[in-house]
Amino acid sequence: MAEPTIEAYYLEDRTFPPPPEFAANALTNDHSLYDQADADHQAFWAEQASQLEWFEPWTSVCEWKLPFAEWFVGGTLNVSVNCLDRHVAAGKGDKVAFHWEGEPGDTRTITYAELLDETQRFANVLKSLGVARGDRVNIYLPMIPEAVVAMLACTRIGAPHSVVFGGFSSEALRDRILDAEAKVLITADGGYRRGAVSPLKPNADAAVAETPSIEHVVVIQRTNNDVDMQDGRDHWYHEVMAEADPTCEPERMQAEDLLYLLYTSGTTGKPKGIMHTTGGYLTQVAFTHKYVFDLHPETDVYWCTADIGWVTGHSYIVYGPLANGATSVMYEGTPDTPDKDRFWDIAERYGVTLFYTAPTAIRTFMKWGTDFPARHDLTKLRLLGSVGEPINPEAWMWYQEHIGGGNCPIVDTWWQTETGAILIAPLPGVTTTKPGSATHPLPGIGAELVDEEGTRVDVGGGYLTLTQPWPAMLRGIYGDPDRYRETYWSKFGDRYFAGDGAKLDDDGYLWLLGRVDDVMNVSGHRVSTTEVESALVDHPTVAEAAVVGAKDDTTGQAIIAYVTLKGGNEPSDEHGQLLRKHVATKIGAIARPKTIIFTDDLPKTRSGKIMRRLLRDVAEGRVLGDTTTLADASVVEEIKRRAAETPTEE
Ligand code: WT7
Repeated sequence: MAEPTIEAYYLEDRTFPPPPEFAANALTNDHSLYDQADADHQAFWAEQASQLEWFEPWTSVCEWKLPFAEWFVGGTLNVSVNCLDRHVAAGKGDKVAFHWEGEPGDTRTITYAELLDETQRFANVLKSLGVARGDRVNIYLPMIPEAVVAMLACTRIGAPHSVVFGGFSSEALRDRILDAEAKVLITADGGYRRGAVSPLKPNADAAVAETPSIEHVVVIQRTNNDVDMQDGRDHWYHEVMAEADPTCEPERMQAEDLLYLLYTSGTTGKPKGIMHTTGGYLTQVAFTHKYVFDLHPETDVYWCTADIGWVTGHSYIVYGPLANGATSVMYEGTPDTPDKDRFWDIAERYGVTLFYTAPTAIRTFMKWGTDFPARHDLTKLRLLGSVGEPINPEAWMWYQEHIGGGNCPIVDTWWQTETGAILIAPLPGVTTTKPGSATHPLPGIGAELVDEEGTRVDVGGGYLTLTQPWPAMLRGIYGDPDRYRETYWSKFGDRYFAGDGAKLDDDGYLWLLGRVDDVMNVSGHRVSTTEVESALVDHPTVAEAAVVGAKDDTTGQAIIAYVTLKGGNEPSDEHGQLLRKHVATKIGAIARPKTIIFTDDLPKTRSGKIMRRLLRDVAEGRVLGDTTTLADASVVEEIKRRAAETPTEE
């Protein structure tokens, strides 16, 4: 495990108290939530859970048998009822749930009543295809409304979903279906990206050819490209929906029933199926969505730009906003189609008030320049959010000035796929922010830094740990309780170890500094070095590969691969391209190395361990650290020379 690097890059004395008018109208503007949570942790979370609609109340708030937590034990509820039926029953059926916009400019407005209707129909379709409570359903879709319908329909009948990001390869999809042993796959003919059709069905077909558990495939027609439909197995969504029964009784789910699996990268090559359950998860995503974004559901228009394939899409496009009866924007495509002002054009047209995006996107907007946001009236915006990686203070300031018009609080939200919900973030009506700091743990969350020995650190750098269970926490890794224990609960006793380094400043503000394990953060997405290495050595010409994440001005980290070819293969730019493409085919475009550096040897210790630290130093152009443990010091000189000669891909 690497020492967390403590960069003194923060702007010590720049602080931003909540703007007075914002604080005056905020849902909370004093310390009462923190005080309540401190006074009685269980009562605090019980109060939040009671905001949901339950069929039967819980008998116990939290049972904690380290590392396994159970929340709201004995309570029963249904997620789709909480996200849809109760709002319709309260007379909000005509309220807009989503202003959806496709990349070509086509739009759809979906009210809560319409979403409930489509969800029930699709729930009945799933049942007719043999999906029963407890069966897993895989979802592989672009950012279209049917993705939300598919997820909610699963929750209606108690079938856990496993959403796979539409940018992942067929092999990544196959592995995730195999691990979940899903019965049905929901996909589309394609989606629109950068003005072109990006087909999905061929990937789905390739995956399903090797996943015997899949009995049926439902295909949404989005792009009208030609697809192969296998008789008896494949069904068009619009055809089966036309015949579906419009009402579907919701299943009464136990609070601890599995709600979904979501796969994320860890330090090994095999993605982990993170398990989230029903009652605690919904409680905490609803609570955090309400208070971190200061959601006023009757007047706000909220937009989270994440993809549904990531946890941010699950918690803050689907479950949190819908549980709170919010009106959201959902957009299918890229921010530069047809022009680099697409996001601001959308924000203006729908009157977006709350905007949530990632630092990598903000840095891209900075590169594109201020003219694009300046073309649009963004004065309705009243709060900005950030997630996925540390936001550098420069990007924070730019975001505040050029998007927020200088008067929006910024909520920098730290959390993980595993945590399910935001854990560290400001409360915008309460917290004085500092650009680049996620500030403090939210009410009900215990977070502390520890040193290598596990001793608490009160000021300075350390490893971020969580000291108490929280309702939306992962319940384990699907099918692998040992890996769950080993990954999160073995390093610092009874603390959850997140894998991140952080610093606490003199004022008690937390500064997240990135991963300290072999996980890279590329554009806010976790990619493991081992996963990319495995994809590289899978190519017949590759003898050995070592992958590191190097600091990158736009994507946070960029993937740099050092590759040794097998005898008889010549390094060349073309060969580099071939290998980059190979990785994209094996995992997905997000894992494609930015640079491939060919080398005859890799720097190793005498025991044969690859010295990644040195490779990172080379990739980031640093003076090399300690090389005394190298078996052959000349290797590094050679690699430095090769690295200097290698062109970088944009
Ligand atoms: C990792 C989790 C949470 C949804 C998106 C990513 C990094 C996330 C922040 C932040 C600094 C952050 C951490 C974390 N991260 N948010 N606000 N400041 N770092 O989810 O793919 O599970 O990745 O993203 O390193 O461990 P994920």
